[in-house]
Amino acid sequence: MTGTGIAIDGVGMQFGGGQGVTALDGIDLHISAGEFVALVGPSGCGKSTLLRIVSGLLEPTSGRVDVSGKTPDEARRDVDFGFVFQQPTLFPWLRVLGNVLLPDRVLGRRNPNRGPHREQVARELLRDVGLERFEDHYPGQVSGGMRQRVALARALSYDPKILLMDEPFGALDEFTRDRLNLQLLDVCNKTGSTVLFVTHSIQEAIFLADRVVMLSSRPGRVTRIAEVPFRKPRGLEVRYEPEFAALTGELRGLLEVEDEVELARRQL
Ligand SMILES: Nc1ncnc2c1ncn2[C@@H]1O[C@H](COP(=O)(O)OP(=O)(O)OP(=O)(O)O)[C@@H](O)[C@H]1O
Ligand SMILES: [Mg+2]
Repeated sequence: MTGTGIAIDGVGMQFGGGQGVTALDGIDLHISAGEFVALVGPSGCGKSTLLRIVSGLLEPTSGRVDVSGKTPDEARRDVDFGFVFQQPTLFPWLRVLGNVLLPDRVLGRRNPNRGPHREQVARELLRDVGLERFEDHYPGQVSGGMRQRVALARALSYDPKILLMDEPFGALDEFTRDRLNLQLLDVCNKTGSTVLFVTHSIQEAIFLADRVVMLSSRPGRVTRIAEVPFRKPRGLEVRYEPEFAALTGELRGLLEVEDEVELARRQL
């Protein structure tokens, strides 16, 4: 299944009415089918909120989102989205393979992408994320990085057009994160999914994404959209390219400015 485009136009989110928190303000972002976009910004700037709006779980207070001609709610009901969160939400009483097959069992006939060889597809996905020998283990018997890979395989198991990932590798050590980054790129290369990926790591964002979107501290506004100048497929060695360091430095500078704004605000 190939990806689908997302158009975010003038999206704002105000929690709790007039005196409440403005989480997002005037977000404009058009994501092409098959594109990988990383969202980076300070804590509390509205990244998770934006993912929830895109997936139709939350109605924005202004603006609109279009998912290839559908509203986010319609797209969600059509099972266009796959989610991977910071903490993998696996069922401890199901084995690894059972967890990957679960969405299919839950969705059943409602799954428009349902094919005849579901178990085979699940096994192939587990192989893609390097877990072919762990199908019969329970989540409690595998490491945190492996659980996160099960969550990724599960999100891909129903062939979603769009993958929404909210700091999926934030809790992992650097080597595991590197390996998962490579596997994610490899899998996306095969599936052609459109990806919206939230991370706190500028390096991870640049390594994975076609474009990196920087958000300001609350209310979240787009401060910069950076095109990543490296072709895919990419290897980890691109991180040693001078252009990689230059872009990392530039984006880090933006985040530091936002940090100072946030600090000043707290001191007022
Ligand atoms: N349901 C809610 N009700 C009220 N306020 C909310 C709600 N959800 C989020 N917020 C507020 O909106 C702002 C943005 O929250 P959000 O979780 O989107 O930030 P984030 O960028 O994902 O942060 P982090 O990087 O820490 O995960 C925060 O100030 C938060 O307190
Ligand atoms: Mg968040």
